[in-house]
Amino acid sequence: MFDFAESIIKWQKRHGRNNLPWQKPITAYRVWISEIMLQQTQVTTVIEYFNRFITRFPDIHTLAEASEDEVLAMWSGLGYYRRARHLHQTSQIIAKEHQGIVPTTPNALYDLPGIGKSTAHAIASIAGGYPYAILDANVKRVLQRFHAIDEPANTQKVKNQLWEKAQLHMPKKRCQVYTQGMMDLGANICTQKPKCMDCPIQIHCKAQKLGLQSSIPKKIKKPSKPVKKGYFICFIHKNRVFFTKRPSNGIWPKLWCFPDYKEYEDITVYDHEELPVFRHSFTHFHLDFHTFIVRTKPIELHAQGIWLGICDFSNIGLPSAISKVLKKNIMPLLKKDCRIS
Ligand code: ADE
Repeated sequence: MFDFAESIIKWQKRHGRNNLPWQKPITAYRVWISEIMLQQTQVTTVIEYFNRFITRFPDIHTLAEASEDEVLAMWSGLGYYRRARHLHQTSQIIAKEHQGIVPTTPNALYDLPGIGKSTAHAIASIAGGYPYAILDANVKRVLQRFHAIDEPANTQKVKNQLWEKAQLHMPKKRCQVYTQGMMDLGANICTQKPKCMDCPIQIHCKAQKLGLQSSIPKKIKKPSKPVKKGYFICFIHKNRVFFTKRPSNGIWPKLWCFPDYKEYEDITVYDHEELPVFRHSFTHFHLDFHTFIVRTKPIELHAQGIWLGICDFSNIGLPSAISKVLKKNIMPLLKKDCRIS
């Protein structure tokens, strides 16, 4: 008789991903960090960040005692920085209220900042072995196809239906392998162009039977994003660049950035160079940002500003858009020897 979970588990052991850094060893702390990094971010990108982060913060206490600035610096380039701030806050709650032990029961996890239902269940099943189903975007696609649910998955009705199916398939044992298997199947087989011939559950897949695997899930028409503009000044003096810390609201909260031109509207600039416009996409809008390079004297430009050379760029939390501009357009203008200023 066909057993959905058994098929997934068998397949995962042979064909799933079993060499990811957070799997060796599996601890609740490592699983939690990796699951937060893996929200909205590809495995290939996360691997390097995870290894660096774990080396710097090997346990909950090193993380809880670090400054938010340092945590943001380690997150620099991964994007969605709210995740890093929540991670840091959560580490302090765990240190204080959970004796430094990352909880693995869903009820304890739901209460922590930055942990939604699916992430809580991923941690509970992978690190705790509890039978709670996950429902991330990949798993949604697998279940929508398997049950031929051809309505878009953005309505509460379909979401509830998918949660119900997800929990129905969840086995009571080997929860860790099963959860990883569902993630692996969604990421590597049941992809946008599914490789049905390699799928362990294909003969019972309703979409496959009906030939609907390419049209499920239905594409959700997203409204086009508005385009906003940003104007920044990159002050350079000798081999140093001037950065200011962004306020805690608005884009890139508390990250270091080139100052906004508005802060310097009244200074006289004799010579500047404008860089090509660079587009960075946020969840709800695109930002076209204009950067003006201004070579200046080492004047004190702003009380909260810092002058940094190439070697310091990796030690502060920079938005990835700013890192890209630095790498492409600014670093070629600077000397690499950090002792020369
Ligand atoms: N995405 C979210 N969690 C994951 C995991 N544990 N392995 C691979 N991809 C994931």
